[in-house]
This record gives sequence, structure tokens and C-alpha cells, in this order.
Amino acid sequence: MMGVNFKIREERGAQMDLRASFALIVFAVGCPAAVAATVPDIVRSRQSDMKEIATSTKVMADMFKEPDTYASGSFGTAAEEIIARSGSHLTANFSELAAAPGSKATDAIRDERARFAALAENLKTYATALAAAAHDHPDSMTEDMRMKANEPMEGGLLGIAPRPSQKMSAEHAFHLMLQTCASCHARFRQRD
Ligand code: HEC
Repeated sequence: MMGVNFKIREERGAQMDLRASFALIVFAVGCPAAVAATVPDIVRSRQSDMKEIATSTKVMADMFKEPDTYASGSFGTAAEEIIARSGSHLTANFSELAAAPGSKATDAIRDERARFAALAENLKTYATALAAAAHDHPDSMTEDMRMKANEPMEGGLLGIAPRPSQKMSAEHAFHLMLQTCASCHARFRQRD
């Protein structure tokens, strides 16, 4: 894909006769890769960040579903992967460019920066709680990692800041993290 991009730019730079420019047009129209090449790098990289976040989320979801498969190492690594891609890193990925070719980001990100940044920060807070849980539970997913019946569920909703100091189970933090994904996507990502 990079090669295609480079080639087009090279041809544009050269003096083109009619035949060459015709070939360029046909090439650009006929080749989907040429269209894809207009997607900005930052869009590709933030989408791949999101895919990593989703993969890590699934690792943890599977372990909550089947606690016997819990391995603190992979659980902790998954949480760390999310930490690395959340907070100010996530916000920065969208600060120059919100809506763009090939992107599903909405311009609401530009108009509501503080809200977007708060959600990115919430994601980091919950992922940090999950990393700490992995550290505190090296051997198995004990009962205290599981959600308790009386734990309040509303903490991750838009506008309500998480309170990491309050003792919450890992599974509770995980559910609040999922609500954070959903809250952000509902407002700042186009529907399919
Ligand atoms: C602060 C806002 C925010 C949070 C929090 C957030 N996302 Fe996203 N996510 C976005 C935006 C915006 C896009 C669209 C990016 C684009 O297309 O440029 C996106 C795109 C995605 C995509 C599609 C990536 C692709 O291939 O195009 C997946 C999957 C995803 N998010 C998963 C998650 C998961 C899972 C979580 C929570 C653990 C999460 N996101 C949390 C804002 C967020």
C-alpha cells in the first residue's frame, strides 16, 4: 500500500503527457488500494490501537466467563495493553484529526474535547484497577475478584467519574470499563 502511494506521488511530480495521466487515472480508479492509500496514517494507527484494546478486552472477558482459565500473567498483560492505549495517548490520537477518510470518528470529538478526554481517562482508570487485580491475584481468580450482588452498576455512565479508591471487584471494574467503551462509541463513533 505504501508502494502504491509512493508511486502515485512520484508520477504526479513528473511531467506527465496525456497518456501517462490517463494511465494514472485508470490506475487510481481501478485499484482499491489507491483509494485506501488516502486514509491518513493516524487513522490507521488509532484503529489498530482500538483493535488491540478489543483483543485485550476479550482475553479478560473469556477469563471472567471461565475462571478456571484465569492466568494472572495474560490477564495483567491485557490490562497493561489497554493502559498503554488509553488516557492521554488515546486523546492525542484524535486531537489533530477527528472525522477523516476511512475513519468512523465523529466531529463531536472536536466539539466536546473534555468529555472525550474524560472517557479516555476513565478507560485508563478501570484498566489500571484490572492490572492491580492481576498483581494481587497471582494464582487464581478468587471470589473477591467476582462481582458482588450489591455492587452499584452506574459508575461508568457518561459524566460520572469513577472512584478508584472505593473498593470494587475486578469484575465490577471490567463491566464499568465496557460501559466506558459503549459510552464513548455512542457519542464519538459513527454507527455501522
Ligand atoms: C474515549 C473514546 C473511546 C473509548 C473509551 C473506546 N473507544 Fe473504541 N473507538 C473510538 C473511536 C472514536 C473509534 C473510531 C476510530 C476511527 O475509525 O478513526 C473507535 C473504534 C473502535 C473499534 C473499531 C476499530 C477499527 O478497526 O476500525 C473497536 C473494535 C473499538 N473501538 C473497541 C473498543 C473497546 C473494546 C473499548 C473499551 C475497552 C473502546 N473501544 C473504548 C473511541 C473510543
